[in-house]
Formats: sequence, C-alpha cells, structure tokens
Amino acid sequence: MRKAVGGGLIGLGVVGTGVVRVLAERADFFTRQVGVPIIVRRAVVRDPSKPRLAPIDPELVTDDAAALLTDPEVDVVVEVMGGEEPAHQYIRRALEAGKHVVTANKELIAKHGPELLALARERGRYLLFEASVGGGIPLIAPLRRDLLANRITSVRAIINGTTNYILTRMAQEGADYADALAEAQRLGYAEPDPTNDVEGYDAAYKLAVLATLAFRSRLAPEQIRTEGITRLSARDFLYAAELGYVIKLVAVAERRDHGLLARVAPVLLHRDEPLAKVDGVYNAVQIVGDLTGMVLFEGRGAGAEPTSSAVIADLLEIADAVVHGIPNRTAWSLEEQLPVLGPDQIESRYYIRVTVSDRPGVLARLAKCLGDNDVSIAAVNQKEANEDQQTAELVIMTHRARESAVLRALAEIAELPVVAEVSTFLRVEE
Ligand SMILES: NC(=O)c1ccc[n+]([C@@H]2O[C@H](COP(=O)([O-])OP(=O)(O)OC[C@H]3O[C@@H](n4cnc5c(N)ncnc54)[C@H](OP(=O)(O)O)[C@@H]3O)[C@@H](O)[C@H]2O)c1
Repeated sequence: MRKAVGGGLIGLGVVGTGVVRVLAERADFFTRQVGVPIIVRRAVVRDPSKPRLAPIDPELVTDDAAALLTDPEVDVVVEVMGGEEPAHQYIRRALEAGKHVVTANKELIAKHGPELLALARERGRYLLFEASVGGGIPLIAPLRRDLLANRITSVRAIINGTTNYILTRMAQEGADYADALAEAQRLGYAEPDPTNDVEGYDAAYKLAVLATLAFRSRLAPEQIRTEGITRLSARDFLYAAELGYVIKLVAVAERRDHGLLARVAPVLLHRDEPLAKVDGVYNAVQIVGDLTGMVLFEGRGAGAEPTSSAVIADLLEIADAVVHGIPNRTAWSLEEQLPVLGPDQIESRYYIRVTVSDRPGVLARLAKCLGDNDVSIAAVNQKEANEDQQTAELVIMTHRARESAVLRALAEIAELPVVAEVSTFLRVEE
C-alpha cells in the first residue's frame, strides 16, 4: 500500500499558488477522501528567487524542470505555467516517464490535445484538463462523461471573462472600448497585453477544446473564424439595445447538415436569450444534446479559487486511480472528421453600421450594392449626422442572407465614394 501520492507543479503563479493553498488548507479532507495524503514534492518556476505567496517550503521551488520530470516520487505533474512551449514538451516527457498529468492550459489542449491524449492512453496514464475551459465551471467532465449518450448539436458560449467584462461596461455605462479596457486592466481582469483576449484567440482555444469533445471531431483553433471586439463602439450597444439586442463575444460550434459551423465573434443576441444575461467576468456555456435538450453551465470562468477547484478535482480523480492502481483506459476515439463550413454555406441576419456622406441618394446606392448581391434590407435607421464632417450613420438590419454575399456587398459598399467607412458588421445569433 502506498503512503502518499506525489504531485509536482510546473508553474506557481495565480493558479499554482491557489492549488498549493487549497491543498494545504484542506489536506485532512483530501487525505480522508483519497486514503493517503497528496504531497507537493516540487514546484518549477521561471525565477526561484521571487518571493512566493504559496504555503510551500522554499527548498522545493526550483527552475529545474528535468529534476521534477524524472523524480520517481512525483506521480502527477500539474502543469499550470501556460503557453505552448515548453509546456508541450514537458507534458510529453511527463507522460513518457509514466506520470499522470493535470493541465489548465487551453492553448496546449486546443493545439496538441488529441496527440497528447493518445500518448496518455497508450501509456495507461491520465491527462485531465478540466481547468482549461471555464475555470471553476464543470465542462470537460460533463462532456467526457455525463453527456456522452447524446448527439450534441450545438455549443454556444461566453468563455472569456475579460471581453465579457469590457462589453458589459460598454453596454451598461456607454463606455468606449479603450476606457473599458483600461478599467479592466486596472482591476486585473485584463493583461497588460490584452491581444489574446480581445482578439478572440483565447475563446477560440476554448471552443476548439469544447467542440472537439462535444462532436468527437477534431476542431483546430485555426479552423475557427475568429473576430475580436476592438472595432465595437459604444454607439453599437445603444443601437442594438434600441432593436432589443445586446452585444456579446460568443463562441459557437454547431452541427449543420453539411458540417460544422465554428466561429468566435461579437454578435447581437436577443435580450431574452440566457447568454444575453451573463454579465461581467462571468462565463456561461449552453450545450444542446438530442436527449437532454439545452443544458446551461454558468459561473466564474477564471481566478485562483475557481481554477484551483477544477485542477484539484482532476488531481483527486488521478490520486484515487493511483492509490487503487487503475490505469487510464478512457476511450477518446474521435468519430468522422466534420468539415468546417465556409461563408458560402452560412446564413444569418446581419447588423451593419456605415458612416456615409450626409447627402441625398446615399441610401439608394447602399441598397443597390446589397440588392445586387441578393441581400435584402429588413430595416434602416439614419442616426445623428455629424455636421462638422458632413457625415451621417446608417444602421441596417438585413433579412437572412448568405454570409459570402454580405461580405461581397460590404466590400463594394466600402468602395463607394459616398461611404466614409463600414464601421461595424455583426451577425444576429439566433
Ligand atoms: N489565471 C486564471 O484565472 C486561469 C484560469 C484558467 C486557466 N488558466 C491557465 O492556467 C495556466 C497558468 O495561468 P496563471 O494565471 O497561473 O499564470 P501566471 O500567474 O502567469 O503563472 C505562470 C507560472 O508559470 C511559471 N513559468 C512561466 N514560464 C515558465 C517556464 N518557461 N519554466 C518554468 N516556469 C515557468 C511562472 O514562474 P515565475 O513565477 O517565476 O514567473 C509562474 O509561476 C495558464 O495555462 C492559463 O491559461 C488560468
């Protein structure tokens, strides 16, 4: 009978510190649950000389990853450093050395998940990644177990707290994008370089992970059409509200007749939709299965405590398997590869805001570009003119139209001499 389960952390930042703290504070409970204590043997960091908030013996903090990966007393490697490399190589080496792995790294799982999961299975080791999507919200375990009997038809999600915070501020206070971002940075919700969040890449990594599991078909991040929130203006929120909508960055993967629709983009959501009410740093994921119907998961998608809840859940599952000598036999087989649909195969309604010269006949010229491309207008609103610049704003809602046709029409509209710019183009998510 073994006396303990040994854990080795790679990363002792926000998440790593949370994990070490909760492991220390609830050690007795976890020991009773698992049967033996979980002991942190080492923690690898970039700079061991930095002062640490984690309740850990400084002697155990090192920059020597190789020592951790070859330590026979480490049964489980907990990768909470982030980024693609060297995290990818560390996890490969850990699995090859016969260790189990827990990771919170969505980029890594989105890019290398299938390959690493296959390696883990081959070695009979666990690779669990609950914290990689949605922080403390249970998503991966439900998709790999509880919803398995379903044919899943759609996953729609608000899975980036930073952008949801910014968009909520813009909607509720009429803040401009730059001001809302600056506030998010001041509060620690946005990083000094916010690109990954505001351009939608973080949400695309998470969608890739969720959709691959939900549809059992590999969806790589680069297959997801990804648009960020940086071009939105406070006025879009005002105009959307007048029409009964809110604007949210929504990640969508949907099984359609001929393949998979996959995108991350700011969209208009009707104000009565469940996702429309998810505000601030909260996340929510809506999954539709043919047996369950719609199920909704909502909660705090980031932060030391919610994320450590997910990491430790994975760690406890593995510790139990280690104690009882149960090898991983989880079936991760992917089914047929679903093609990802292009703009030619997708239809939607669209919200378009165009800044034009404030002259008669302009609307007719825009309507012609749309009509020539088979896009019909459902409603047009002319907004306040800017007298100094002699421009006006037109807000157009279209009927359902093919996305490629709308993109063609917008390219033509942008070339019209009477058009200053096509300011915003958003899909209506229905
Ligand atoms: N923060 C969240 O709320 C959250 C939520 C869900 C998932 N995640 C994921 O969890 C992971 C960790 O996020 P975090 O917020 O905890 O990051 P973080 O605060 O930046 O911490 C990263 C840690 O990794 C260490 N590290 C970085 N590069 C390293 C390298 N090359 N070799 C060894 N150690 C290295 C750092 O060492 P130093 O301390 O010496 O700099 C630091 O301890 C990421 O994959 C992230 O996407 C985070």
